[in-house]
Amino acid sequence: MLVTLEGLDGSGKTSAWEALREEFPEAVFTREPTSSWYGESVARSMGDDDANPLAELFLFTADHADHLSRVVRPALADGSLVVSDRYSDSRFAYQAASLADSYLAGGRDPLEYVREIHAAFSHPPDRTIYLDVDPETAAERAGATNKFERVAHLERVSENYERLIDAEPERFVRVDATQPLPDVIAAVTEHVAAFTDD
Ligand code: TMP
Repeated sequence: MLVTLEGLDGSGKTSAWEALREEFPEAVFTREPTSSWYGESVARSMGDDDANPLAELFLFTADHADHLSRVVRPALADGSLVVSDRYSDSRFAYQAASLADSYLAGGRDPLEYVREIHAAFSHPPDRTIYLDVDPETAAERAGATNKFERVAHLERVSENYERLIDAEPERFVRVDATQPLPDVIAAVTEHVAAFTDD
């Protein structure tokens, strides 16, 4: 089973992922962007305010393709529970928000376009926990250290996540990430335990 954690920057997602590591020691824990050289290229692009959003989408997607073949598919083939801190929904939400300001031919919807690219090769998550926090709190908590963390951008990202949840309500569970972190962690842990009991 593939479980992914998604949410705006500053949602407590990575802390929840670290806590899950202790609770489910037999599972495979992974994240995107990865630490491979593809992931390093992604980090370089994220640090560049003038990066081309379309080029950046493909860097993130290249990192995802490598992550799938090197980590995710082999772990799933072994029957492992895989927990990923960010995965394809991050592209759908974040890169669709970046592309909204740029040009896609034929009036294409950025979110649909990014989904279509993934549909050709990716492995969709079985369940996704969305750590729900408003864009203002997210930007404040994240300290806006990269271009994706600014409030206006996070508002678009948040709207995109809502579209994704509306489209597949059975895949997502929502956790209120404005709660104190221990409560967020407890809720996330309960959800993963319930998924693995099903
Ligand atoms: P993090 O907050 O999980 O460390 O993620 C790093 C940043 O990368 C965060 O601002 C969201 C962004 N990101 C994307 O824009 N697209 C993606 O596909 C992924 C995985 C992350």
